[in-house]
Amino acid sequence: NTEFTWRVSIPIWISGIMSIFAYFLTIRLIPGLKNMFIKANLFGSDMNKRNSDKIPEALGVVSGCIFLITLFIFIPIPFTNYIFENSNFPHNEFVELLAALLSICCMLLLGFADDVLDLRWRHKILLPTIASLPLLMVYYVNFNSTLIIIPKPFRVWFGLSVDLGLIYYIYMGMLAVFCTNAINILAGINGLEVGQSLVIAMSIMIFNIIELNGSLWKAHQFSLYFILPYITTSLALFKYNRYPAQVFVGDTFCYLSGMTFAVVGIIGHFSKTTLLFFIPQIINFLYSVPQLFHLVPCPRHRLPKFNKETEKLDPSVTVFKKTELNRVARLIMTVFRSLKLVNWQEDSDGTVTCNNLTLINFVIIIIGPTREENLTKILLLIQISCSILAFSIRYPLASVFYDV
Ligand code: UD1
Ligand code: MG
Repeated sequence: NTEFTWRVSIPIWISGIMSIFAYFLTIRLIPGLKNMFIKANLFGSDMNKRNSDKIPEALGVVSGCIFLITLFIFIPIPFTNYIFENSNFPHNEFVELLAALLSICCMLLLGFADDVLDLRWRHKILLPTIASLPLLMVYYVNFNSTLIIIPKPFRVWFGLSVDLGLIYYIYMGMLAVFCTNAINILAGINGLEVGQSLVIAMSIMIFNIIELNGSLWKAHQFSLYFILPYITTSLALFKYNRYPAQVFVGDTFCYLSGMTFAVVGIIGHFSKTTLLFFIPQIINFLYSVPQLFHLVPCPRHRLPKFNKETEKLDPSVTVFKKTELNRVARLIMTVFRSLKLVNWQEDSDGTVTCNNLTLINFVIIIIGPTREENLTKILLLIQISCSILAFSIRYPLASVFYDV
């Protein structure tokens, strides 16, 4: 009925309009703030260019702040009816919104700290865990439903549902850690960090819009409140970060993005679908495992190498003695080599030259040296194809595994 459609769609339209304002504000703010960042020593050099100008770093904090401010101003909008009617105020929904904001806000702060202080690897795991605590607490108070429905094929062993209890909270915390870091390590060429995040965000948006007609519309409406301003502010950032980059987004942006996706996935109860939109990041993570866990030496930067003669990008490499590898590492690398997943060259004296294990380098190995702007486009096309794949598995698969 119309009353219902009104309640569902009006706040979304308002959120949409505010998001458009946020877009133009971000577009205006970033150029003005660039020099301030350089003055504050927040800059990096673009390793894939001839010149080494100072490029301001961590501009994700600007788009992130506008994103948060838009949401702060938006807070009363979904609740205006209750405020005017002065009855049945939905405190649980309200506290969810605030906790989600608190988690994202916390992640923005910690991400910025990482950019300024250049933290170690173990902190990168710790930060998102800390930032997700407010959210998990609210989840506990509001739902505390850690019951999961078992997929049909496994019901013979586990029954219809299982209460995961604490394990479910650990899963949610790990989801935040994964989403944040997975975006951060699929990085290093202009526009890739924002580009992939935008594809994921738009996929979530489309999924939410489809699901607005379903019984869980409230969760998807809630998710849209976050995703719309996220998309527009990131789009503005993309304008400056795309090739040739005028600004870098910093870890601030990667953390903020991952946390936003984890938050809407957790509160909206669609975290498995969210993960489906992370297929390239999951592949990149699995491929990176030997280097992430230091089984194979991992240099500070793994981004592709700029070739000054051809102006194209070659895969970057890590060089080590074969004797440095322990047994597990040797086994994994033997598997990788037999599947032709790596470029592996061995000298007579046992010195190994192997490409850094990232999806970006792997794509270059497959298609040959590529110009930076084309490489970003190809990787974003892969991301889009994976989202299409995600949609085409999500719906048919759901009916195979669950009664929908
Ligand atoms: C992650 C990656 C690292 C990669 C880096 C690039 C892992 C474990 N870590 O580290 O391999 O090299 O991201 O972002 O996989 N930069 C460019 N062009 C770009 C973007 C970044 O040259 O388009 C360079 C700039 O010098 C910039 C720096 O990368 O200052 C930022 O790196 P940072 O985000 O601090 O690296 P990490 O996230 O720690
Ligand atoms: Mg980074």
